[in-house]
Order: sequence, then C-alpha cells, then structure tokens
Amino acid sequence: MLKKIMLVIAVVVLSVGVGGAGRSERGQIPWKDPAPIASNDAEEKILDVLADMYLNQRRGMMNVQPEDGRVLRLLAEAVGAKHIVEIGTSNGYSGIWFCLALRTTGGKLTTYEIDARRASLARKNFKRAGVDHIVTLIEGDAHKEITKLKEPIDILFLDADKAGYIDYLNKLLPLVRPGGLILAHNTTNVRGPMEDYIKAVTTNPKLETKFIHKHDQGIGITLKKR
Ligand SMILES: C[S@@+](CC[C@H](N)C(=O)[O-])C[C@H]1O[C@@H](n2cnc3c(N)ncnc32)[C@H](O)[C@@H]1O
Repeated sequence: MLKKIMLVIAVVVLSVGVGGAGRSERGQIPWKDPAPIASNDAEEKILDVLADMYLNQRRGMMNVQPEDGRVLRLLAEAVGAKHIVEIGTSNGYSGIWFCLALRTTGGKLTTYEIDARRASLARKNFKRAGVDHIVTLIEGDAHKEITKLKEPIDILFLDADKAGYIDYLNKLLPLVRPGGLILAHNTTNVRGPMEDYIKAVTTNPKLETKFIHKHDQGIGITLKKR
C-alpha cells in the first residue's frame, strides 16, 4: 500500500515537473504585471506556445507586446466574443491570445495576412497551440478580402497597414454588433498614418473610444454603443 502511495506521489511530482518547463520559459517574459496563471492544461499549452513564440520567433514578426496580448484576451472573454476579425495575422501571436478567450466563449477567429511566409508560420503556430479548428486564416489583401465578410463581428482588431485603418473601419463598422469593440494597435507609436482613423473614432457620437498602454505601443479601444 505504502509503495503504491509513493508511486502516485512520484508520478504527480514528475508531471508537475514536466509542466514546470513551460512555466520557467514563461518566467523569462518581462511581464509588467504578475504573470498569467493557467487554470487547466489547454490554457497551459497555449501560454507555453505564446512564450516560445515571444522568446524564439518574434524577430521581424511585429507582434503585439505580451501585455497587449493579455488585454486582447481579457476583452474578448469579457464581451463573450463569438466572432473576432483580425487584420494582420503575422505569425499568429495576437491571434493565439484571442484564442485563449475564444476556446471558452465558443467563438472563432477570422484573420487576414498578405505575406505568405508569415501566414504559413501562423498556420503552424495555430496548430501547435491546438486552436487551428477555431481559426480561419485568409491569405491576401485584407482591403479586398474583407468585403466578402457577411457575419456579425464582436471584436474587430486592426493591426496591419496603419494608413489602411480608416478603410477597414469604414468597410467593417456596419458588421460590428452594437456593444462590440474595435481595437486598434499602435495608436501611440505609429499614430501619424492613422490620424484619420483616430478622428473618426473620437468624433462619432455612436462610438466611445479610450486609449490605453499609452506609455508603450498603445491600443485604442472603441465601443460601438448599443
Ligand atoms: C504588425 S503585424 C501584425 C502582428 C500580429 N497582429 C501580432 O501581434 O502577432 C502586421 C501584419 O499585417 C500584414 N499586412 C499588411 N498589410 C496587409 C493587408 N493589406 N492585408 C493583409 N495583411 C496585411 C503584414 O504582412 C504583417 O504581417
């Protein structure tokens, strides 16, 4: 009996140790707030993939910062997003942050990428994070491709060509549901080319906009009022 108990303890200790490898990699990320803690194995796996992407793949990928990723996940889960549209997939980093939320809300991500190499990397990353079944990656020029969208959008995330934000907004605002969000990345560090977008989301009485993470790259959070 004692042997059996010892065996069970050994198995538990070993399995915690194996899980801990990912956690130690996550520990290398310069979180500004206490690091996220997984509540189950699926979440743990996704956070480990995100950590690996941040530590080993981010060069040239123009990814959002980990702290921005947390905000994307938090907002998506809070609004119970069923459909998120992302413009600018890159290698899938921000998309996988959204998927942390979408796997619990029962939602899906439609994401657009013009660059074939980054799109191919993204497909691999979605797969290894175990979220590929909830992601549709559309390869091509989003300005053209988004005109085929017909379904309501809970969150629209803009993170591609900055001068194009206004065109994405004009084309997709009608599909954003009342109570839905439009999130714009780089509202601090690449503000110039998106001034027309900033004006549009701050002067329309049907929208409420707040800018956060202003000390960093910045995110514009716009609510389409009910
Ligand atoms: C800032 S990166 C996106 C980063 C990504 N959201 C993340 O945080 O992981 C911008 C991406 O938008 C893509 N892009 C630029 N113009 C585009 C367009 N017209 N249609 C689709 N993708 C575009 C670029 O190739 C690039 O990979």
